[in-house]
Amino acid sequence: MKIAVIGGGSSYTPELLDGLFARAKAIGLEEVRLYDIDPERLATVADFCLRMCKASGTCIDHQTTTDLSTAVAGVDFVIAQIRVGGNSARKEDELLGLRHGLIGQETTGVGGFAKALRTIPAMLEIAAAIEKRAPDATLINFTNPSGLVTEALLKHSRVRVIGLCNIPVTFHIEIAKALGAAREEVELESVGLNHLSWVRTVRLRGEDVTAKALAWGGKAGRPANLGELDYPEGFIRALGMIPMHYLRYYYLTDRMIEEMKKKGKTRAEEVMEVEAELFKIYRDLTVNEKPAALSKRGGAHYSLAALELIEAIHFDRGNVLTLDVRNHGAVAELPADAVVEVPCRVGRDGAVPLPARPVPPAILGLMRAVKAYEELAVTAAVERSRDAALLALVVHPLGPDADHAEAVLEDLLRTHRLELK
Ligand code: G6P
Repeated sequence: MKIAVIGGGSSYTPELLDGLFARAKAIGLEEVRLYDIDPERLATVADFCLRMCKASGTCIDHQTTTDLSTAVAGVDFVIAQIRVGGNSARKEDELLGLRHGLIGQETTGVGGFAKALRTIPAMLEIAAAIEKRAPDATLINFTNPSGLVTEALLKHSRVRVIGLCNIPVTFHIEIAKALGAAREEVELESVGLNHLSWVRTVRLRGEDVTAKALAWGGKAGRPANLGELDYPEGFIRALGMIPMHYLRYYYLTDRMIEEMKKKGKTRAEEVMEVEAELFKIYRDLTVNEKPAALSKRGGAHYSLAALELIEAIHFDRGNVLTLDVRNHGAVAELPADAVVEVPCRVGRDGAVPLPARPVPPAILGLMRAVKAYEELAVTAAVERSRDAALLALVVHPLGPDADHAEAVLEDLLRTHRLELK
């Protein structure tokens, strides 16, 4: 098996390779190619990974390249984890939100929209290279906003792509922990979109323990990038479902904005500090272990998520994983060509979403509104359409109203030096 990592110079890469190296023999991994547009970061990360795998005795041939075509040629899997414009662009996305009294988060609200506008064209270029040089490869997309980017790729390329996020795996692990059970004993039924999903049923060894799990309500096990805010208990009880962490941006909007203002620092700035610390460690020739500081990033368990998917496909397992895939009618209330984040059966031929029960009105409106925004955002990014961009902003439940949308859009385009027609 050959794997290419696009965005290989990410500070996250050692976490990914640590997981891959540990399972290398089992999955027959022969080669990993790390691709990045920044040769310096790439070399630092690759050298550190080499020391790490030598120390653990699990070394796999890993090459580096700044040539996309070379990176993907003949590989079986491509893992994409790019951040167009780096964390400085992310900081601008967050500040854009704050300037207009809105949520400017990495994947949600006007921040996620700005990121989608600059990321989708880059991902379509990567998809074109895969179509040409590795047409049978599976593209595992972590690139944010993950569901939205996956939808753009499914609609505008021929690549076999599956969107992936660490949140469903993390949620599964945390709920099992809260129930005092092993993860294998716990089954979650969830429905929604990426960073916008709800756990509807929790089963422990086949028994419905949702009521017990609701008491946990998503309090514990929050990713490092989200604040300490809890949902009101009465709300969770009435909802009867566990909202995934990112739903705080929708259900606790005012408190989330307040919290961001109070901190006086964007998440991007915090991440830049953590990255400086991580890269210092990666450059230190005496260090050869995955640094503890990696836990300050939000991407916990992301190598586990990637491996579970790779193994399910490679071994034709037919097990159930929660992934971002084309709906195909699984969620009857959403368009068939929309990307949804739902439990899927996964094997050699890919991921097939399991049919969802009817979606209750308490969550249906939000799900539909965000999906409509995502459709418009894909059109805006692919057609470089100003009208679609304006509508995407207004349709987004966390976006500006029509009176303010043009000013927000102008600000966004100016800040990121983007142009639309
Ligand atoms: C979570 C999300 C990812 C996101 C990450 C951000 O894990 O699921 O989509 O990229 O957090 O973490 P960071 O440390 O960059 O804020």
